[in-house]
Amino acid sequence: MCGIVGVLGNHEVAPIILEALKRLEYRGYDSAGIATVRDGRLDRRRAVGKLANLSDLLVHEPLAGRAGIGHTRWATHGGPTVKNAHPHRVGPVAVVHNGIIENFRELHDELSAIGLTFDSETDTETVAALTAHHLTSGLSPREAAAKTLGRLQGAFALLFLFDGEPDLMIAARKGSPLAIGHGDGEMFVGSDAIALAPMTDRVTYLEEGDYAFVTRAGVEIFDAAGRRANRALTRIQIEATRIEKAGYKHFMAKEIAEQPVVVAEAISHYASLQDRRLTLPDGVDFTNVDRLVLVACGTASYACQVAKYWFEQFAGLPVDVDIASEFRYREPPLSPTSWAVFVSQSGETADTLAALRYAAEKVAKVVSVVNVASSSMARESDLVLPIHAGVEVGVASTKAFTCQLTVLALLALKAAEDKGRMTPDQIAAQLDALAALPGLMSHAERLGPRIAEIAASLAEAQDVLFLGRGPMFPIALEGALKLKEISYIHAEGYASGELKHGPIALIDAHVPVVVFAPHDGLFDKTISNMQEVMARQGRVLLVSDAKGVAEAGAGTWTTLTLPEVAPQFAPILHAVPAQLLAYHTAIAKGTDVDQPRNLAKSVTVE
Ligand code: G6P
Repeated sequence: MCGIVGVLGNHEVAPIILEALKRLEYRGYDSAGIATVRDGRLDRRRAVGKLANLSDLLVHEPLAGRAGIGHTRWATHGGPTVKNAHPHRVGPVAVVHNGIIENFRELHDELSAIGLTFDSETDTETVAALTAHHLTSGLSPREAAAKTLGRLQGAFALLFLFDGEPDLMIAARKGSPLAIGHGDGEMFVGSDAIALAPMTDRVTYLEEGDYAFVTRAGVEIFDAAGRRANRALTRIQIEATRIEKAGYKHFMAKEIAEQPVVVAEAISHYASLQDRRLTLPDGVDFTNVDRLVLVACGTASYACQVAKYWFEQFAGLPVDVDIASEFRYREPPLSPTSWAVFVSQSGETADTLAALRYAAEKVAKVVSVVNVASSSMARESDLVLPIHAGVEVGVASTKAFTCQLTVLALLALKAAEDKGRMTPDQIAAQLDALAALPGLMSHAERLGPRIAEIAASLAEAQDVLFLGRGPMFPIALEGALKLKEISYIHAEGYASGELKHGPIALIDAHVPVVVFAPHDGLFDKTISNMQEVMARQGRVLLVSDAKGVAEAGAGTWTTLTLPEVAPQFAPILHAVPAQLLAYHTAIAKGTDVDQPRNLAKSVTVE
């Protein structure tokens, strides 16, 4: 979390940094700040809350200078106050930081003991203080920063700017990503390439442990051992980094609406619908794989939970699903004949990345299913399957989820083919069913106005339960997560059969219960659980197809009728009303849909 930017420019940099920070605001929006070097001296502006507040401040108190660093914060150490906002400045050095300095207390105590005082409650200020201390003892900025970096434990991306050095930024990466952008006589640094896209398409990614001296003439990169390092210069696709609302009120609305297109796009990368066959890349061969472990966080972990049903049912392949933060510290034994699959929109989530590193060398293949194809996870995997969702800006994941599901479904079909569990004809029939999804999702999306009516009532609730069975259980979990994230209503997802083992005690006339029940082989069972809820005055919203609503809609609070879908792919279709329910409830409550409180899109701290 936290976004950082640096610019050594030929023009005033504050507006450029502000623009880049806007593209990084998905990483946190508790406060923002910019420091520049002007006439050889550091100056800075900081404001609490969203970037708009910093932008307003800069109107009243402009910040001049052609060298600068900026930050948008997701608070870890210390609340969202001006004092805790970055850049942190101690004497002749200013620092912006993404990540956590784990030994900051030790550094704080050491520096306090020699008389330094601190302005903030942050871990970052110790980095600035230690560097300032080294500068005072006679080291050059390069030496001082390098010496400081040698003392830091934890995960970080850091940028340093110095008094008297209008042509120097020092960047360092350990655990959190950092990209260096090359301009014409200008240089840029950013937490991701998207932030730099308006300025340059030529980017060098720092690798783990690297630090870099950046001047307008170029960049010198050193590895963790202090040796000069050559890192490739890559060209990013500017088109892929365009971020606009395109007439929608929110990015989330736009991203929900884009799903038919991006899901079709994802299918087209891994299957030929014309030839009715799979076209997964070479290297995707499950013949000798006897177990899969799927690891992710948040919404992506629910995609993994759905995929478990597919891999097991299509291919008879046993699957373990793990939340990354639990997986990595449990240190599970992994078989050398298994594959480990890491699913992540950003490809940078700290826990998932650490889990990936844990699995590397222990399994036959590390596979990543990511949206950002240049991400750390993609770079560190044996096999990368991009989901082709396009840039997702809304903090609550939507189109990335359905694209993750789509790619995992295709992967499971490939496993079925490799294991001899499906004939080419059966695969072809499955692909026909998958190919119908974009059209069905468009249909589901047109339920928006009806869902908005239901949401007006949902917005009054204190608690909402979501139920589903089989592969619809993870959709219940995702529906509840979406609602919590953006409307701040307490919601829980349950396997419908599990309800009677406790959660049913919560049911009364005030608790809406959303039931995802496509008319599949489990329909009758789910409906029995729904009846148990209704027998206790529970207010049921039944989400099903025409057949399901006709059979079981009587006596419910209300129903939503989706088009008929192949039952195995119903989770992908039902994700759409789950998202729209959360979206319209948030609108009814007036919350911040795209940037909900306390959250960030890319979680690069543990
Ligand atoms: C954050 C986001 C979620 C996302 C999760 C995992 O919590 O708010 O929407 O599902 O991170 O992110 P990843 O980039 O790994 O999919």
